[in-house]
Amino acid sequence: MSRFLRTPWRSRTAARAVDSASLATGVALARALAAFDSETAEHSAAVALYARDVALQLGADADSAAAIQLGALVHDVGKLSLPVELLLKADPLDEDEWALVRGHPEAGARIVGGLPSSHTLLTIVRHHHERVDGRGYPAGLRGSEIPAAARIVGACDAYAAMTQTRPYRASLSPDDAIAELRRNADAQFDAEVVAALVWLLDAGGEEYRMARADGFSAEQQYAALAEHAEAPAQAAAS
Ligand SMILES: [Fe+2]
Repeated sequence: MSRFLRTPWRSRTAARAVDSASLATGVALARALAAFDSETAEHSAAVALYARDVALQLGADADSAAAIQLGALVHDVGKLSLPVELLLKADPLDEDEWALVRGHPEAGARIVGGLPSSHTLLTIVRHHHERVDGRGYPAGLRGSEIPAAARIVGACDAYAAMTQTRPYRASLSPDDAIAELRRNADAQFDAEVVAALVWLLDAGGEEYRMARADGFSAEQQYAALAEHAEAPAQAAAS
């Protein structure tokens, strides 16, 4: 049986992980990040759709997948704590600048930590840069110590980042990015997450692999999540 299916993966309470109130808060945070740094927001929208699809592929129910999608939309909200010049810098960062960047998961956790219904959101914001070999940050968690939602977002974040041009480097082709994911499975990334993501990328076609297919924009995702949040809870649990 899949390791993911052995984890408490399906919603155990009647309460929605993504209800109208938590969605409104998440969307407000995502829009704040978009106003500050549109590239990070656009990248996060790609991460969110891949993360939702990987979660469903690994057996998550619709509500858990929606919670992961919302968490992925705001996973870099801690970048609001960084000087904007740092995000736009074309030259390689020095050690002090990297130390600031490595603080963004904890900064994000301080922003979302007090929200109600925020468990999945908080674990994604705090732990999306952990690595399964324990060499990630901020906590240095290993393997299944890293919450499953954060392992999913971590691999999707890396794929979307590799295929998107950044100020300091050109993008990789989807095939090269997939090879990189495979090369780092069981070191940086969860191997089961990589297998699910690669399956989806192979099946999805070029528009999907480049995050240009219908449904990828942040606004389309907010609308779909609003429909989910407003639907009767039984519909999501089926
Ligand atoms: Fe990040």
